[in-house]
Amino acid sequence: MKIYVPRDAAALAVGADETARVIAAEAQRRGIAVELIRNGSRGLLWLEPLVEVDVAGTRLAYGPVQSDDVAGLFEADFTSGKPHALGHGPTEQIPYLKKQERLTFARVGITDPCSLEDYRQHGGYRGLAAALELEPAAIVASVTASGLRGRGGAAFPAGIKWKTVLGAQSAQKYIVCNADEGDSGTFSDRMLMEGDPFVLIEGMTIAGLATGATRGYIYLRWEYPQAKLALEAAIVAARVARYLGPDIQGSGKAFELEVRMGAGAYICGEETSLLESLEGKRGQVRFKPPLPALQGLWGKPTVINNVITFASVPIILDRGPEFYQHFGMGRSRGTLPMQLAGNIKHGGLVEIAFGMTLRELLYDYGGGSFSGRPIRAVQVGGPLGAYHPDSQFDTPLDYEAFAAIKGMLGHGGIVAFDDSVDMAAQARYAMEFCAIESCGKCTPCRIGSTRGVEVIDRLIAGKDAAKQEAILRDLCETLTYGSLCALGGLTPYPVISALNHFPQDFVNPVRAAGAAG
Ligand SMILES: Cc1cc2nc3c(=O)[nH]c(=O)nc-3n(C[C@H](O)[C@H](O)[C@H](O)COP(=O)(O)O)c2cc1C
Ligand code: SF4
Repeated sequence: MKIYVPRDAAALAVGADETARVIAAEAQRRGIAVELIRNGSRGLLWLEPLVEVDVAGTRLAYGPVQSDDVAGLFEADFTSGKPHALGHGPTEQIPYLKKQERLTFARVGITDPCSLEDYRQHGGYRGLAAALELEPAAIVASVTASGLRGRGGAAFPAGIKWKTVLGAQSAQKYIVCNADEGDSGTFSDRMLMEGDPFVLIEGMTIAGLATGATRGYIYLRWEYPQAKLALEAAIVAARVARYLGPDIQGSGKAFELEVRMGAGAYICGEETSLLESLEGKRGQVRFKPPLPALQGLWGKPTVINNVITFASVPIILDRGPEFYQHFGMGRSRGTLPMQLAGNIKHGGLVEIAFGMTLRELLYDYGGGSFSGRPIRAVQVGGPLGAYHPDSQFDTPLDYEAFAAIKGMLGHGGIVAFDDSVDMAAQARYAMEFCAIESCGKCTPCRIGSTRGVEVIDRLIAGKDAAKQEAILRDLCETLTYGSLCALGGLTPYPVISALNHFPQDFVNPVRAAGAAG
């Protein structure tokens, strides 16, 4: 009898450990032999802790299961798949999951993240096996042909970056994984690292083979202790089975990997700050050029990619670039794990091919707002993403389509707000975020963001509002064109989108009433 209770941080936060403990105790009390597997999350976060029971090879879902529900579940004979008020039937048939196209997250929630054997039984390490048969240039060509673009935010083609590192002459090269995941409302990196750590290790190993890099680092945010545990256990298991080390699977090729913890700064997710931080220095943005691909970690050629970018590589090598290319629209190929957060009924992870509209995601998957009130605004792409009004909800989830409406998909984070939101406060928050997180290297961002908060305060207070708005727009233009990196450069997105789409929120009601009177 196999019972699955996620060990994912989102499940732990709502009591999964206690649920698991009580299931084990109750099973023992009743003399039922149970194998309790601590899997990753299926990504249906509103159902966590989501307990699954394997009945004749079909997994049945029950959730959310709190510890005091457990006795009742046993009483109802849930281990035989009998009905219960918390039952949802076969997990794979739950529409939220059934309609998804899970390529990168194919195993998350299904396998035991601690078991290399389980990983292999579910198609793991087939991509590496294929890569070991290829010349480095052919691996890079495969990644290029797949159309894979970086999933960390900038959507730069992964193959082009890898080709630059492959072509660089150096005795030492590095593979660095950006696992800083600082964007608000995002958790796909975390879910993947906790639920299927081997796929990230496999992807980074393939990147090493492709570029001639023999060492890799995963730069992980310190807020992810469960991911650290999962990754470190998986690295040890991979090393023991010779998937890492000096002689990968008898190929004579070497790749070693370790996890390094960040100290908690949004700017350390920016790739050059991250490299500074990895080198033990203060996380501050570097000038480009030189590109990290040519002079990255300790001045050596370095591939730096996001967790999801690396984790998408094994399936490309296994199934071929055409298979991956087949998903998506325009220049956005493959799938993107979207993360639904904020005021949303069914928050969680939805991996789907590019091309679905934001509205479908919000309503068909998200089920509308959690509060039941109309969704008024949605921030897409993290704290530097634009706020979109209902009139833009029919935009397809595609990098270019969002760029065309002065927004961005970024890392796929979606934060929904209902009609009680104050968009002027959100604009102020975005500017203040920049002021707090600025690395201080360039003037427009360091000084401009602080002045920007003051200007927004005066605008909201209605002190010479037209003039303040003109100053704010001018300042945002300076930030856009004068900032060294995208923290200062993109902060105008949330600020100006709030101002353009929700101007009524910037009108001070007291002063407006006074003027009218
Ligand atoms: C302020 C700032 C924060 C960033 N934070 C992250 C992050 O948390 N995770 C990430 O993968 N990329 C982040 N990026 C993007 C990285 O600079 C870089 O583009 C990415 O690591 C490249 O990998 P990719 O091509 O696979 O996306 C950030 C960029 C900026 C400007
Ligand atoms: S824009 Fe801001 S975070 Fe980026 S380099 Fe300039 S000061 Fe640093």
